[in-house]
Amino acid sequence: MRIIHLAQTDSTNDVLKRWLKEGTAPDGSKTDPEPWTAVCADSQSGGRGRRGRSFYSPRGGLYFTVLLPAGILPPERLTPLCACAVCGALETLGVLGARVKWVNDIYLRDRKVAGILCEGLEKGILCGIGVNMTSPEGGFPPEAGPAGALDCEGLGKEELLLAVLEAMRKLIEDGSGLLDRYRALQWLTGKRVECRVGGETFRGVAEGVADDFSLIVRTETGVRFVSSGEVTRTRIAEEV
Ligand code: BTN
Repeated sequence: MRIIHLAQTDSTNDVLKRWLKEGTAPDGSKTDPEPWTAVCADSQSGGRGRRGRSFYSPRGGLYFTVLLPAGILPPERLTPLCACAVCGALETLGVLGARVKWVNDIYLRDRKVAGILCEGLEKGILCGIGVNMTSPEGGFPPEAGPAGALDCEGLGKEELLLAVLEAMRKLIEDGSGLLDRYRALQWLTGKRVECRVGGETFRGVAEGVADDFSLIVRTETGVRFVSSGEVTRTRIAEEV
């Protein structure tokens, strides 16, 4: 495993994407990246999230992308695997209570503290993970949504990075418990949700995660399985 540290970049996913395409490492050397190469940056000017969103990446957070061999996992397991690895790493380091909000967000105390962006390319899979380690001065910008930070004194970026990579490695070696773990960590289960899939919007209650990692949503007209799109939590007036 090789970890490349950058003080600043546009997006660690894009650094690895360019490296794979052009065969030039961030230090200018002519080498192809090996599987399990991780690129980590102190801040990103063009941090990207799912669905074309930006990911607020000021100094103080952990932003990295690790390259996995192409085809190592079926696509539907990738993001869940990263999500379970982040929650597992946090637990190992004493941060308890992190949950996965389907499909790629990590929540702690009802706030999004981390996001995952996996991209499958011909030459490899990019797993990009961003963790808000500390709350920025003045708070998160509105476009960051319901963002929060770990704010755990004594928790280092390097140790979290290594713990996530180690948790990913273990889950890839033995992924037999991944679905159960992903189900157990699901923050949306039992909550009211609004789903936007393609051009359609519908509401219901999330009932859990199906065998193919899609979200099971009970609507007034029946059960729907959501495997793509956007799911947000909704509340009725009396809920807090
Ligand atoms: C999301 O919230 O939709 C996913 C956010 C993923 C952010 C990480 S930070 C490291 C890597 N580089 C990026 O540009 N995105 C991912």
